[in-house]
Amino acid sequence: MTIDIITVVPDLLESPFSHSIMKRAQDKGLLTVRTHNLRNWAINKHAQVDDYPFGGGAGMVLMCEPLANAIETLQQTTPYDAIIYLTPDGKTFNQQTANTLSLQENLLIICGHYKGIDERIREKYITQEISIGDYVLSGGELAAAVLVDAIGRLLPGVLSDETSALTDSFQDNLLAPPVYTRPADFRGSLVPPILLQGDPKKVEEWRYEQSLERTKTRRPDLLNNDC
Ligand code: ADE
Repeated sequence: MTIDIITVVPDLLESPFSHSIMKRAQDKGLLTVRTHNLRNWAINKHAQVDDYPFGGGAGMVLMCEPLANAIETLQQTTPYDAIIYLTPDGKTFNQQTANTLSLQENLLIICGHYKGIDERIREKYITQEISIGDYVLSGGELAAAVLVDAIGRLLPGVLSDETSALTDSFQDNLLAPPVYTRPADFRGSLVPPILLQGDPKKVEEWRYEQSLERTKTRRPDLLNNDC
């Protein structure tokens, strides 16, 4: 999968993909993440990409021209399955959306900044608008990092244990069960004995019950969720 990201702060996106699972995914050739500085398509020698909002008000708006040129340049070499704009008024991101997007070949992500992007760009180019939660970030970069991580780890071959993504929280609309590792006795606090008895079927049943219990108490809304 290839993910292109258009941003005014490419530096913000350097570290999140340079470590751990995201790095491994790229080293294995399963994921390519490319960041593109919107200022490469600035309208003048002052590297201008934003302007004051018509009608007045606080903040700046990313202009049509640089964004349109950036998107059209990238489209010349990559046929995007989705062009995603990250914005607090988008559809809230969840595991289901991550699963769906992980099946695509090429994604283009646009990071907003300041007050957002000119509405005409949203109307003309954007195929999907996503929010990572009901709060406002300074820009879409951190949201892009969240999206790429959540999608990238689902690509076949990225996780060393192929089944581990399937047992994540939110797959099947259930939160993950509690996990334990050595020692079995930590200052008198013991691991549930069933995990030490070596019966995989019983462990699976116990984990399912724990998942259900945890979901009922912490996120009952997930149990009524069909998607
Ligand atoms: N940009 C600013 N806030 C955001 C949010 N909550 N989700 C996605 N992009 C954003």
